[in-house]
Amino acid sequence: MQVTERSFKGKTVVLTAGPTYEPIDPVRFIGNHSTGKMGYALAACFAARGANVQLISGPVSIKAEHQSINVTSVTTADEMYAAVKQLALEADILVYAAAVADYKPKVVADKKIKKSGNELTIELVKNVDIASALGKEKKEGQFSVGFALETHNESANAREKLQKKNLDMIVLNSLNDPGAGFKHDTNKVTIIEKDATTAFELKQKTAVAEDIVNLIWERING
Ligand code: CTP
Repeated sequence: MQVTERSFKGKTVVLTAGPTYEPIDPVRFIGNHSTGKMGYALAACFAARGANVQLISGPVSIKAEHQSINVTSVTTADEMYAAVKQLALEADILVYAAAVADYKPKVVADKKIKKSGNELTIELVKNVDIASALGKEKKEGQFSVGFALETHNESANAREKLQKKNLDMIVLNSLNDPGAGFKHDTNKVTIIEKDATTAFELKQKTAVAEDIVNLIWERING
């Protein structure tokens, strides 16, 4: 089957990308180094194959170019969850590529926190797990894909996430692989499913996106 024949025409893909920023006060936040490149590459790949893409993006410095990509810009995990929950109703495929902050400050100060003592403690509370919450409401026929970034027990941890979050597929990037992860244009992934494990070479994130999208196509149409 030619790659060009692997069409997603008529399919709606809901995709999260980028980091979330959790405010501490009006000028500070907790965030992470996600650039959104992997998620945006996936969005572009799905759109090029004819899908209607709903991209829910945290703060990033890149742009989606394709006219079939509709971007909803959000800042916090709560905002991302609200947007995804709404859009998931129409989704055929859900891809959770965002690096969602696991915790947020319990209290957001309404004025800038002034410097005082030698120590400052900020109490954090757990954020909603978007993939897990949506996994509980997954509809018949919906296909969902998560990401996992692990430093140890990679496969076992990824398999646990696959099951806990009710995902069909999890894309594992190991921080042990040079050139993979946050700050690179390349990535080396292993795709883990209930009954299959597929390892790929280190390549450009755009090429990784093609591999992921091809495997999704095969699972949906194969
Ligand atoms: N995820 C999410 N909402 C969160 C945390 C994670 O939707 N609050 C999604 C990510 O987008 C990713 C998957 O869940 O697709 C796994 O994310 P990861 O951060 O690796 O897993 P966690 O469940 O946060 O586990 P841990 O950080 O403890 O490894």
